[in-house]
Amino acid sequence: MRRFSSVLAASLVVLAAAASLLPAARAHNITKILAQHPEFSTFNHYLSATHLASEINRRLTITLLVVDNSGMADLLAKHLSLPTLRNVLALHVLTDYYGAKKLHQITGGATTSATIFQSSGHAIGTAGFINITDHSRGKVTFVARDSGGASPATFVKSVKEMPYNISILQISTILSSPEAEAPVAAPGPVNLTALMANKGCKAFADLLLATPDVLKSFQSNLDSGLTVFCPDDEAVSAFSPKYTNLTAAGKSSLLRYHAVPVYYSPQLLKTNNGPFSTLASDAHNKNYKYTVKSDGDVITIKTHIVTADITSTLIDQDPNAVYVIDKVLEPRELFKVPEKVIADAPAPAPAAPPKKKKSTAAKHKAAATAANGAPAPTTPAGPEESPADDDTAAADNAALRTTAAAWTVLAAAAAALFLA
Ligand SMILES: *[C@@H]1O[C@H](CO)[C@@H](O)[C@H](O)[C@H]1NC(C)=O
Ligand SMILES: *[C@@H]1O[C@H](CO)[C@@H](O)[C@H](O)[C@H]1NC(C)=O
Ligand SMILES: *[C@@H]1O[C@H](CO)[C@@H](O)[C@H](O)[C@H]1NC(C)=O
Ligand SMILES: *[C@@H]1O[C@H](CO)[C@@H](O)[C@H](O)[C@H]1NC(C)=O
Ligand SMILES: *[C@@H]1O[C@H](CO)[C@@H](O)[C@H](O)[C@H]1NC(C)=O
Repeated sequence: MRRFSSVLAASLVVLAAAASLLPAARAHNITKILAQHPEFSTFNHYLSATHLASEINRRLTITLLVVDNSGMADLLAKHLSLPTLRNVLALHVLTDYYGAKKLHQITGGATTSATIFQSSGHAIGTAGFINITDHSRGKVTFVARDSGGASPATFVKSVKEMPYNISILQISTILSSPEAEAPVAAPGPVNLTALMANKGCKAFADLLLATPDVLKSFQSNLDSGLTVFCPDDEAVSAFSPKYTNLTAAGKSSLLRYHAVPVYYSPQLLKTNNGPFSTLASDAHNKNYKYTVKSDGDVITIKTHIVTADITSTLIDQDPNAVYVIDKVLEPRELFKVPEKVIADAPAPAPAAPPKKKKSTAAKHKAAATAANGAPAPTTPAGPEESPADDDTAAADNAALRTTAAAWTVLAAAAAALFLA
């Protein structure tokens, strides 16, 4: 028996390890699911407008309480601001899974569920909890714990159940909560530089302030999605001699290289292993890229020259994220790829095309151009070097390494089984 359970434990370790190495599949797309039900189109629209949809998509084990278009009309008649609407709708996303069946089997007839409003940072005390009561004769009601005396909403029907990922239940009316409906100061555009300056990235913020056109392009992406990797003060200070050496165009490209025009939460960073196009990439997205990898809890950004670790999160609020990193990211378009890195590069797989050497030479050419003071070319160097190919190669290598790691884990676990 003991032997059996240790074998079982070892197998579970193998499964868990293998699963953690696979990119997490997106479990659901709430926008798409609700689109099949036109009676919830207003609710669906506001889930997207408040960016709650992506928050819902990246979570598992949740229950969404929806109201039909007339229920939403009552809410919209209150003329709440978008950030306040977000709080009210967040109160309708329970962080537990309730299918219709479970609703009618609530132990003791009543329970309480947390919501994502509760964990939003806007809720105080017990705000953000929902009381669910299973009355006699199958009637189930929902009321915010701090409803301020408002009458409960009634369960109408189950719209969609994907156990135990997401359940969508229709309720009769919007849940009322003075806390959720309290006016939220519209989070005006995030002041990126102020945020960075307050949290250990003052030197980088100062570089942005000294380069207004770059700061402007960062800011113009705040609404649609922006992820910034901001080197800490120590990193910027160590890099300062190299920075001063760059031309104005080089400085601009270097700063832009630290931002990606897409919102990446830490989870999304872990599951999208690049190559990432940056604000410095040209229209064809072939240059100024890097790969993002995760190793356990550490997320690293790898250019051809440096590997930086994310050391903290300054802000993660869809659609914006700012992470602190411990090195300035050096693109190979501006800096020479050190010989050591080339020498240490993993041996090319047998099938690798023999053009590796040529592309190294091309890199030197690009680096030399940059050192001469001219901005590095923003278009691919020529037919003999396609940076996109190179990035693909890097991604392939990363994939190979991941597979190798998976096999190592499997082998180790198999050995453990033998010894058990
Ligand atoms: C979800 O579905 C909608 C509508 O079909 C689509 O526009 C959107 O891109 C999808 N989102 C994701 C993250 O796949
Ligand atoms: C919700 O449940 C809690 C605990 O059972 C109770 O103290 C509270 O009064 C309930 N709130 C409402 C509005 O029903
Ligand atoms: C729940 O999500 C997982 C992926 O995270 C997926 O494999 C599974 O099929 C989903 N379950 C249902 C019922 O859709
Ligand atoms: C943002 O913060 C910077 C300080 O980092 C300040 O100079 C600037 O005026 C602020 N901008 C806005 C729009 O408040
Ligand atoms: C600055 O550029 C000069 C010549 O282009 C070079 O010799 C020097 O090493 C560079 N300094 C740094 C810190 O990169």
